[in-house]
Amino acid sequence: MPDYAKITVDGQTHEFPIVQGTDGNRSIDISGLKEKTGCWSYDQGFANTASCRSSITYLDGDQGILRYRGYPIEEIADKSTFVETAYLLINGQLPTKPQLSEYSRLFTKHANLHEGMKSFFLGYPSTGHPMAMLSAMVCALSAYYPELVKPNPTQEEIKITAIELLAKIRTIAACTYKKTIGEPFMYARADLEYVNNFLHMMFSTPTQEYSPDPAVVSALKTLLILHADHEQNCSTSTVRMVGSSWSNLFASVSAGICALWGPLHGGANQKVLEMLEQIHADGGNTDKYIEKAKDPANPFRLMGFGHRVYKNYDPRAKFIKKKADDLLNALGIHDPLLEIAVKLEEKVLKDSYFQERKLYPNVDFYSGIIYKAIGIPTDMFTVMFAIGRLPGWIAHWIELKENKDKIGRPRQIYTGEMVRHYVPIDQRK
Ligand code: ACO
Repeated sequence: MPDYAKITVDGQTHEFPIVQGTDGNRSIDISGLKEKTGCWSYDQGFANTASCRSSITYLDGDQGILRYRGYPIEEIADKSTFVETAYLLINGQLPTKPQLSEYSRLFTKHANLHEGMKSFFLGYPSTGHPMAMLSAMVCALSAYYPELVKPNPTQEEIKITAIELLAKIRTIAACTYKKTIGEPFMYARADLEYVNNFLHMMFSTPTQEYSPDPAVVSALKTLLILHADHEQNCSTSTVRMVGSSWSNLFASVSAGICALWGPLHGGANQKVLEMLEQIHADGGNTDKYIEKAKDPANPFRLMGFGHRVYKNYDPRAKFIKKKADDLLNALGIHDPLLEIAVKLEEKVLKDSYFQERKLYPNVDFYSGIIYKAIGIPTDMFTVMFAIGRLPGWIAHWIELKENKDKIGRPRQIYTGEMVRHYVPIDQRK
């Protein structure tokens, strides 16, 4: 097979090298396309474009395969912890025992926020969306750690910034919740590991310590791990794009949080639960909503279905569905929304509209049922996604630096007026 592709423009043929990943996938390297052919490439939504070289996450959407640094997601979700998964994604290797205990110790050491940051929360309206607070507060960390925001930090500075961020994001998340319910902020405890500490800051009060059911800790840990990375999705590409201008890690991640918020991306988990609640309030008539989603004249979509890359069952959704079942059983909760979700999925999988378009449940479809059972309010679901996704964002930001990637700067197909001349306001019609 030739290791180049030929592109003919205006009768002239030009060769472009084909590069191959370790997964065997081939890409045409079109660097120099404009120079050689006089044309740019056009790929709306980057659906056919590899934007970088990456060794972090392997994803095969047709087969439903997801691996972090080569390790199958099923093994990691089953056997690892969130802190260990973060170490793996960021450092490329599973940690040794001493490395892991040092990593965990640093997370606890850096968990609490600078006292000055508390005043920010006071200024937000209690109805403010937690994602707005999260992205702003993550960016605000840049102001509190100016020594960590150099354009070209050392490896040690990057390591500390990553730990500050990983440790503090759950504290910020918990503070946004406390702010909205009007309770005092809780400090992290030195004796608790990552997930338990988050639950403590969320649900303990000065007079009552929250003691979670082990099934809650296990379900939350699994969700965070399953969200930890997903190669070049919208928010990760945003982090890489912002980082490519040498913006600091806090600012780059803050931009990623904003990208995640959208309902077509991480914001879908909130929308799924709202949709299930709406179907429930409407008498549980799933057929009605399936028909609405299939109607081309109706913009309504079944939230939690479909994926740009997975054209098969999202392996994370399978795992989460089982976890949701286990958690509700362990807590003795009967949630009619789970029944609606299962019924909806069964019908969708048999429906030719969804089959033809290869639309399967995605990671967001069942996650809201777990968050709800834990007691996390609906508008915080995407915040939970952001906590989970943080190790991936950090790993990609570091990789971008290591690969010395160029600043992101796509071209466009211009569709506007070519040239017009200014008309004074009193002469305009
Ligand atoms: N419900 C109904 N129809 C759908 C859905 C859905 N959830 N998703 C896609 N379709 C249809 C589209 O209308 C389109 O139909 P057409 O070919 O007749 O025009 C076709 O399937 C292809 O859809 P696109 O929007 O072109 O697919 P794309 O890859 O651009 O979008 C996306 C993927 C955004 C995830 C889409 O499936 C969607 O909107 N899903 C609902 C939101 C959601 O769950 N997002 C979370 C994704 S996972 C994550 O980000 C963590």
